[in-house]
Amino acid sequence: MKNASLSQNNQGLLSGKTAIVTGASSGIGRSTALLLAADGAAVVAAARREERLKELVAEIESKGGTALAVAVDVSVPADIDLLLQKTLAWKDGGNKYDTVVVNAGRGLAGSLLTSDPKQWQEVYDLNVLGAAHLMRQAALYMVARKAGDIVAIGSVVGRQISPFSSFYGSTKFALAALAEGLRREICGQGVRVSLVMPGIVTSEFQAVAGYNQENFGKDVAKFGPLLEPQAIAEGIRWLLTLPPQVNVSEIMIRPTGQNYP
Ligand SMILES: NC(=O)c1ccc[n+]([C@@H]2O[C@H](COP(=O)([O-])OP(=O)(O)OC[C@H]3O[C@@H](n4cnc5c(N)ncnc54)[C@H](OP(=O)(O)O)[C@@H]3O)[C@@H](O)[C@H]2O)c1
Repeated sequence: MKNASLSQNNQGLLSGKTAIVTGASSGIGRSTALLLAADGAAVVAAARREERLKELVAEIESKGGTALAVAVDVSVPADIDLLLQKTLAWKDGGNKYDTVVVNAGRGLAGSLLTSDPKQWQEVYDLNVLGAAHLMRQAALYMVARKAGDIVAIGSVVGRQISPFSSFYGSTKFALAALAEGLRREICGQGVRVSLVMPGIVTSEFQAVAGYNQENFGKDVAKFGPLLEPQAIAEGIRWLLTLPPQVNVSEIMIRPTGQNYP
């Protein structure tokens, strides 16, 4: 069953919408892709690991949804342009897109003093410059259509800095500035921009960032159960299913026991 039949049955709040989700091969992005597809959206799943994306598309299709895998590196502007071109060429998605979830990102263990400076460029290219390019291109397209949703995935450390992850946190401060600046720039033209700031979510994030698993486990044990990616996906879905005149521009979603940061 394809998306059209979901919408005929009026089963999904997002039927007829096409959503791009970056970082869809894992964690928050993967959960979000599954959830938006379950609500009837045609989903364009982007990340570098193509096999993972293909598995995700197969899972969505097995549940009656519609999805497309696009393997790209979203820290590279030409790849982002390719992603948007492939989306617009995708017939099952209606040759358009309504929503972009700017989710792909990575952490970096350590502070300004202790993080590995050899990784700084890569973290900024992905978390800030790649996100900025995608948001810019999507915003230009959406303003012309006078509708659309851009959801950027920031972090609690992009609002309340922690000295223990200050370099990574600085990328999420930048993303928050870009999201709110863009919201103010284009909100009069029917486009919503939202920033979702997760607390600690169990995903591949910790390994990619290079956390020492033993120390990390001890540090967070006091917070009680951590979030699963699904909790963030639910928040994103909520933003997207509000009436078009309602823009919740920021949400912070933490494990209940997380008191820092
Ligand atoms: N987990 C947390 O505690 C937490 C807290 C606050 C905010 N966040 C933010 O939430 C977002 C998602 O993180 P997550 O927890 O779901 O982590 P994750 O499980 O590591 O997922 C990251 C995703 O980003 C993709 N990605 C990484 N580099 C990419 C690149 N250059 N081009 C394309 N895709 C790329 C990865 O796919 P490929 O490797 O296949 O490319 C993967 O799908 C990130 O922006 C992160 O900063 C996470």
